[in-house]
Amino acid sequence: MSEKTRDRGPAPDSDTRGRAPNSHDRGPAPDSRDQGPCPDPDNLDPDNLHRATIAYYDLRQVHGDMPHKIPRGPAPDLPAEQARMVRESQEAMRGRKVLEVASGTGSATREIAETAVSVTGVEIAPNMLELAAKNDNPTNVSFLAGDAFDLESVAPGRRFDGGFAAGFLHTCPSSRYTEFLNGFHARLEEGAVVFMRSSRPTSPDAVSRLFRVKGHEDQFMTRQLSDGSEYIMVENDPTEDDFRRVFEPMTRNLDIHIGNYWWWIRYELP
Ligand SMILES: C[S@@+](CC[C@H](N)C(=O)[O-])C[C@H]1O[C@@H](n2cnc3c(N)ncnc32)[C@H](O)[C@@H]1O
Repeated sequence: MSEKTRDRGPAPDSDTRGRAPNSHDRGPAPDSRDQGPCPDPDNLDPDNLHRATIAYYDLRQVHGDMPHKIPRGPAPDLPAEQARMVRESQEAMRGRKVLEVASGTGSATREIAETAVSVTGVEIAPNMLELAAKNDNPTNVSFLAGDAFDLESVAPGRRFDGGFAAGFLHTCPSSRYTEFLNGFHARLEEGAVVFMRSSRPTSPDAVSRLFRVKGHEDQFMTRQLSDGSEYIMVENDPTEDDFRRVFEPMTRNLDIHIGNYWWWIRYELP
């Protein structure tokens, strides 16, 4: 292991680690048991992380390996915090034509569709998109294939006055924030309201899988699927100062909430 990755803790159950299989290969990679995680810990550049993130999400839902199934101990305040986050998401998107990035299977999409005029979800993982389409979606929801970092050609000519992202920003390398936000905001109208939210890595299981690598600003996390494949993904947990530094120069009325389990922010575009 190189000097760069030495401060990384041991990966869980390291003898069953495997490289992420091709996104259309739903079975375990046959000879993957002695290979390392994807991407190689010595090559955590944004392109490699992007590929690993997509591969992970494309397979996670197929295997049903959902993090909320891992016990986290007593969390009596969790349902109330979640209910407040959903309510504030719905209020922010009320009456708006929403462009949502990283819509996954559409669970948050359907929540905000209760108050929005329409929601167009953009998702990159083919299996996520397929599952989203199979769900019981209201008529004001649609899903499109696309990359959050390349929104220019998605739904050409459509105008949106709401922007939404649930569970995306925490996996975005901080070196790509400006690229992502510039591209996202360019698709929204003047005065549009944006709401973003993500879970926080606060459970004992999540904390045990976090690590930092010298020379990288981001925090990383190992994630493992039940086929034995292991992935390294960005897992940032921004502070209020981090949000202010990134968002304040380009937005108005930034409102930040950092809870025990999720953070969420709401802002307007000038
Ligand atoms: C944690 S899931 C959240 C899904 C959904 N928004 C929700 O709240 O249930 C993250 C989703 O982001 C998608 N994603 C990751 N990077 C993406 C990108 N660059 N462009 C579009 N979708 C992306 C993943 O495929 C995955 O479906």
